[in-house]
Amino acid sequence: MTTPSPAGNLSFFKDLHPPQSHFREDVLNGLSKARKSIPPKHFYDARGSALFDDITGTEDYYVSRTELSILDTIADEIAAKAGSGAVVIEPGSGSSVKIDKLLSALDHPAAYIALDISKEHLIAACEDLAKRFDGLEVGAVCADFTQPVALDDLPIPQGKRLVFFPGSTIGNFEPGGAKALLETFHGWLRPGDALLIGADRVKSAEILENAYDDALGVTAAFNLNLLTRINRELNGTLDVDAFKHCATWNADLARVEMHLVAKRGTQFSVSGQDFQMKAGETIHTENSHKFTIPRFTALAASADLDVKQDWSDARGYFTLYWLERA
Ligand SMILES: C[S@@+](CC[C@H](N)C(=O)[O-])C[C@H]1O[C@@H](n2cnc3c(N)ncnc32)[C@H](O)[C@@H]1O
Repeated sequence: MTTPSPAGNLSFFKDLHPPQSHFREDVLNGLSKARKSIPPKHFYDARGSALFDDITGTEDYYVSRTELSILDTIADEIAAKAGSGAVVIEPGSGSSVKIDKLLSALDHPAAYIALDISKEHLIAACEDLAKRFDGLEVGAVCADFTQPVALDDLPIPQGKRLVFFPGSTIGNFEPGGAKALLETFHGWLRPGDALLIGADRVKSAEILENAYDDALGVTAAFNLNLLTRINRELNGTLDVDAFKHCATWNADLARVEMHLVAKRGTQFSVSGQDFQMKAGETIHTENSHKFTIPRFTALAASADLDVKQDWSDARGYFTLYWLERA
């Protein structure tokens, strides 16, 4: 259903949030595997989204700060490439913070459409942005972007599309899933449109592991919040204190892995189904793949997207890519 926004200052709000049964199936299937895992999209209830925002402010999490610094440098260049009257679409928009820099630099953007799975957070962020950018059409879509989203059924204005996918969220997908997601974005582009995407780079294990296990324990709280969410929404009986957060760099697969490790043997049930874990057994909750520029370029090419330009910070920590349909 496309509805007016709760505060009335959005052009539209479309609620395509997946039913609760998807969360339950993912959790029950994931906990039933020999190597337990739960997809990272389930981190993002309202508390998870707020904790992610807190992570971006920690000293150890260089990712957001670095990407913002690149955007600062290239905003005018992006504005020239995007042209006048662009329609900006941001999947996984979170708090819509990075978009401020682009929208401020763009020449009379026609609209900003944010898409995220975290409903309350999405609505609050978009309503706030609509207040800051008076006169800009702002639409919000609550949806899972790994499922088909028919953009053409939404009241999106005409104009050159700029799909903006920052935050290295692409790194949360294994290679096949990343290719599939880029193919989805490819399907949103028409000739002349572009995808601006941020991807984190391979670097030392120490920097990477600290970024995903910050000294203040915010990332640990973010990871453990998944268990609290399961207890609340799926009638779970997990003892959150029986688990600890762990982040390790897997050099062979070029990714930081986040796990919830059982500190001792523990038994629990979720939606009436019983599980047990031995001490040291883990639930794998997130991968953050890191890219070299050639590897990212090859990934884009596998989805029929050409890297037309890329920009990195001076330390070579992070890269933004301008992609167009091949
Ligand atoms: C790593 S955060 C990045 C947030 C923001 N783009 C940034 O750069 O700071 C990932 C965001 O994508 C959203 N997200 C994750 N998986 C999603 C999915 N499958 N469908 C829609 N949104 C998703 C989360 O709710 C969260 O806001």
